[in-house]
Amino acid sequence: MTLWQGRIGGEMASDLSEFTVSVEFDRLLAKEDISGSIAHVKGLAKAGLINGDEEANLVEALGDVGEELQTGVFEFHAGDEDVHTAVERRVTELAGEVGAKLHTGRSRNDQIATDLRLWCRVALSRVVKETLAFQDLLLFRAREAGDVYLPGYTHLQRAQPVLLAHHLLAHGWAFSRDVDRLLSTVERLNVSPLGAGALAGSSLPIDPDFVADELRFNSRFENSLDAVSDRDFVAESLFDLSLVGVHLSRMGEEIVLWSSDEFRFCVLDDAYSTGSSMLPQKKNPDIAELARGKTGRLIGHLTGFLATLKGLPLSYNRDLQEDKEPLFDAVVQVERALRAMRGMYATLQWETERMQDAANGAAGAAVDLAEYLVMEGMPFRQAHSLVASLVKESIERHVDLAELVGAHPDLGLPGARLLLPGAAVSRRISPGGTGPGPVADQIDRFQRRLEVDKARLGALGFLDGD
Ligand code: ARG
Repeated sequence: MTLWQGRIGGEMASDLSEFTVSVEFDRLLAKEDISGSIAHVKGLAKAGLINGDEEANLVEALGDVGEELQTGVFEFHAGDEDVHTAVERRVTELAGEVGAKLHTGRSRNDQIATDLRLWCRVALSRVVKETLAFQDLLLFRAREAGDVYLPGYTHLQRAQPVLLAHHLLAHGWAFSRDVDRLLSTVERLNVSPLGAGALAGSSLPIDPDFVADELRFNSRFENSLDAVSDRDFVAESLFDLSLVGVHLSRMGEEIVLWSSDEFRFCVLDDAYSTGSSMLPQKKNPDIAELARGKTGRLIGHLTGFLATLKGLPLSYNRDLQEDKEPLFDAVVQVERALRAMRGMYATLQWETERMQDAANGAAGAAVDLAEYLVMEGMPFRQAHSLVASLVKESIERHVDLAELVGAHPDLGLPGARLLLPGAAVSRRISPGGTGPGPVADQIDRFQRRLEVDKARLGALGFLDGD
């Protein structure tokens, strides 16, 4: 039996159900559906639409159904189209006649929008928590890295040496922006659509502010048409998650390179590597590759859903049911990728000698020679050209750059000293740069930022009871 029996005769064509039914995936919203319904029942009682006994019966039945769902004893029936119909059917079985009053003043259109927002604010908070844990690890590894340096690259060509700590925190700051985006998405989506009805509100004296408050939303909707058709929050969540994925993908790509024999900047722990079914010598960075690979799928979820939204007239359209699978999958994949990559980063070993050797080439300090000449009064363009011609000469004549520099009247011994291993890093003094001083300062600032973000997540309070 369907909820709309009366207007539509008989049952839906049987072979259509697998096309239309959403309970296979929207059952994930069961907990939110129950809390939303409890708030709605309280609202009905406050409006005098049900009496105190009826309220108590419905709340108790909803609690029992919640329990059944949580313990896995809840039985979904063939006729349950979605989680809302399944819950309402079971409430009516348990509470009897009063079950027929549950849906008063409500539509599945405002109900699903409510459930999904409730779900999103918890799910995104969980992703934030995972991201913060990864940042904690990066901070730990940055501190531990001390003065170790490696080549910094542009165009994947060695450019200037940088501290390993500086490099690790570069990824850390990208995550800070992710955290900020996710938290502000949560703040923005924390608006209740409950009370919008099918699309136009209600002729009954319901109070959307009351239910919004019950569900700890910041406010209620302003416009009922918008309330049931707005899925900006899903698109935003998919974007935020895709960008976390993109950051993980870039880190993954880096580890793929760094763990190769060509770089050998790090060695992965066996627990985070895989072997080859054929080649006995192989140790493969599959975790890093999957972080990179799964990001394609996240981007697909985002673009696919934007395409779903773009042609929809106001207000609710069934197309919107297509919001859930990409969203649920994106959250699961990002959470898993964050956890897997954190484990991999926690256990890998840096090959610090190899990194430093790669960074010790004299050419990495070429700009330091030019900057030395600048301090001696030479215009930068002229200094750049002088040093460039020395580098060229050293390559063409196979002579050490240090030798040419030492022999040059404008550079001499002070110039040659700039080419000593590590000098190019330790001389970087500008704020935000890679020198030991600025990096020590950066580590403090990063730690403070992490504390602020953790407090922000805590203040939202959606992970209580975790
Ligand atoms: N399963 C539907 C969804 O996810 C619930 C709302 C159904 N509303 C409707 N008018 N058919 O969007």
